Amino acid sequence: MQQKILNGKVLASQILDNITQQIVNIVGAGNRCPTLAVVLIGDDPASQVYVSGKKNACAKVGIKSIEILKPNTITQNELITLIQQLNSDTEVDGILVQLPLPKHLDSKLIIDNILPHKDVDGFNRYNVGSLALQDPKIAPCTPHGIMYMLDSINFKYAGATATIMGASNIVGRPMALELLNRGATVTICNSKTKDIAKFTRDADLVVVAIGKPKFLKAEWVRENSVIIDVGMNRLPDGSLCGDADFDNIIHKVSYITPVPFGVGPMTIAMLMQNTLKCYTILSSVIN
Ligand code: GUN
Repeated sequence: MQQKILNGKVLASQILDNITQQIVNIVGAGNRCPTLAVVLIGDDPASQVYVSGKKNACAKVGIKSIEILKPNTITQNELITLIQQLNSDTEVDGILVQLPLPKHLDSKLIIDNILPHKDVDGFNRYNVGSLALQDPKIAPCTPHGIMYMLDSINFKYAGATATIMGASNIVGRPMALELLNRGATVTICNSKTKDIAKFTRDADLVVVAIGKPKFLKAEWVRENSVIIDVGMNRLPDGSLCGDADFDNIIHKVSYITPVPFGVGPMTIAMLMQNTLKCYTILSSVIN
């Protein structure tokens, strides 16, 4: 059974070790430390947990993190001014604005104000557009981390059928582009899709990112397929579970990611990798 579990924590720690070594070399050679600015608006508890995970990862690999906390009452212009200050700060390599933002702020406008080469999340239109044109620059972290996981099991993309459940800008859409770029035949389902099982039943790969606990059932997946679970749901008893019915699906498939310790750690590892990439780009611009 164990070999079926695609453990993101183990893979992420290998990537983080490699990044740590690169940063030791950079700083050891007398260069400044790569720096990530993390902007958190308001007091959403889930966002606070995610941000503290990101800060911890920075500390672990040797990236300097600057946390900027602002109240819910910040105006759009004030936030844009803050981003512009971070854009022009030559000691800030990456800028991350934690989502979701309070309703009075226009997320698209805010994200598009981040300079593309400081957009560590890979969310702005230049970076998503580059991925769509098969010329990725800074790729969104969760889908890119999933590609690392699939590479680690030598998944054969060309000719494979992949069904993505969830069409968000953060996961579903860039996931589709990543898989398409590697030759998979991709279907994206959304909340309006009729008879979702019709699209998952024959898929070689299912990526589920809808935020509904244990939604994907064993009867809906193919024997020996690969299941990637991006869900992170808190049950009434306080435990965490994904969007897939893990305990029943695992007997049927060739691989499945667990929750926790599946996709989550890979997202963080990719954020660290993107920050280092932004640092390299910024250093080449300045020098
Ligand atoms: N909210 C949920 N996931 C993410 C993410 O990957 N980046 C940011 N900035 N906000 C998020």
